[in-house]
Amino acid sequence: MVDNHNNEKDEVSGVETTGHDWDGIKELNNPAPRWWLWVFFVCIIWSVGYWVIYPAWPTLEGNTKGAGNWTQYKKLASEQAEIDQIRGVLGKQISEKSLAEIQANPELYAYAMAGGKTAFKENCAACHGTGAQGGRGYPNLNDDDWLWGGKLEDIYTTIKYGIRSGHDKARFSQMPAFGQGMLSKEDIANVTEHTLSLSGNHPVNAKGETIFKQNCASCHGENGKGSHEFGAPNLADSIWLYGGDKKSILAQVSNPRSGVMPIWESRLSDDMIKQLAIYVHSLGGGE
Ligand code: HEC
Ligand code: HEC
Repeated sequence: MVDNHNNEKDEVSGVETTGHDWDGIKELNNPAPRWWLWVFFVCIIWSVGYWVIYPAWPTLEGNTKGAGNWTQYKKLASEQAEIDQIRGVLGKQISEKSLAEIQANPELYAYAMAGGKTAFKENCAACHGTGAQGGRGYPNLNDDDWLWGGKLEDIYTTIKYGIRSGHDKARFSQMPAFGQGMLSKEDIANVTEHTLSLSGNHPVNAKGETIFKQNCASCHGENGKGSHEFGAPNLADSIWLYGGDKKSILAQVSNPRSGVMPIWESRLSDDMIKQLAIYVHSLGGGE
């Protein structure tokens, strides 16, 4: 440490200096503290043990493997196995339990919510929006207004078999195209006026009301409140699938869109469909 010993002593502390001098500030030649030396030696001994047990030294063929044969991959695998075990137990319960049972069990419910949310982003967001807010022709799934029913089982069935998807068990109904000769232009105009009056401040149209009772009430109900059996929207509220202005209603009555929702049975496991049903129900279920 000390090359140019000059034995000069510091006047204040009486300690020898190293001879290093920076603008009059001198360095004292104090020995390293004993505790520090001990820690230093223990670290050296520790490191030797570490080199033997763990992979440490680079060699031409990779690195020394260490006596413990430890690798990051093994650590990852053991952690993964632990997660898989937990997941396996919960996943098995999801397939065995009913929707109501899953909903009532906090642990299973949390698991289903997380799985459903991810699956929704991957499979449903393209049509229903990332926040399930929907868009023209694609229902908002956050509100408690349902075409085909908002109970857990209803939602499950809708997702599993789709709507007008061609599956035997799919939700199906078809609003007639009244513009193809079933009703005159004048009748359609009148029934549109009546439809507008169902949801708010719009003059009553007696002719339209009669036409509605004869042609529309079978699906939409006498007072236009809709029916889950036919997936017929409630026309007496402010929520619209295709728009609630005169032009949109005229277009729908003349030539209905008959929206299609795909079958998911063939693409997703039953467990996943259950999780999706739980998730969608949490957004705006109930009814
Ligand atoms: C290709 C577009 C499309 C995709 C993808 C899609 N949907 Fe739909 N979905 C629709 C349409 C269109 C309707 C409304 C059909 C109608 O007019 O009755 C609908 C209706 C629904 C309904 C019924 C809503 C109600 O008010 O009763 C639910 C529930 C639903 N979708 C859930 C899902 C879930 C969950 C997924 C993903 C697994 C999904 N949808 C993927 C198009 C889609
Ligand atoms: C066979 C059942 C059925 C009959 C009859 C029927 N509808 Fe519909 N209506 C539906 C269904 C199902 C939908 C939604 C499906 C679609 O087209 O995607 C719908 C949608 C509508 C919509 C769009 C609602 C929205 O939220 O955007 C309007 C408006 C409407 N119907 C008016 C009428 C009128 C007016 C009549 C009579 C002239 C009528 N419907 C007769 C089944 C029916």
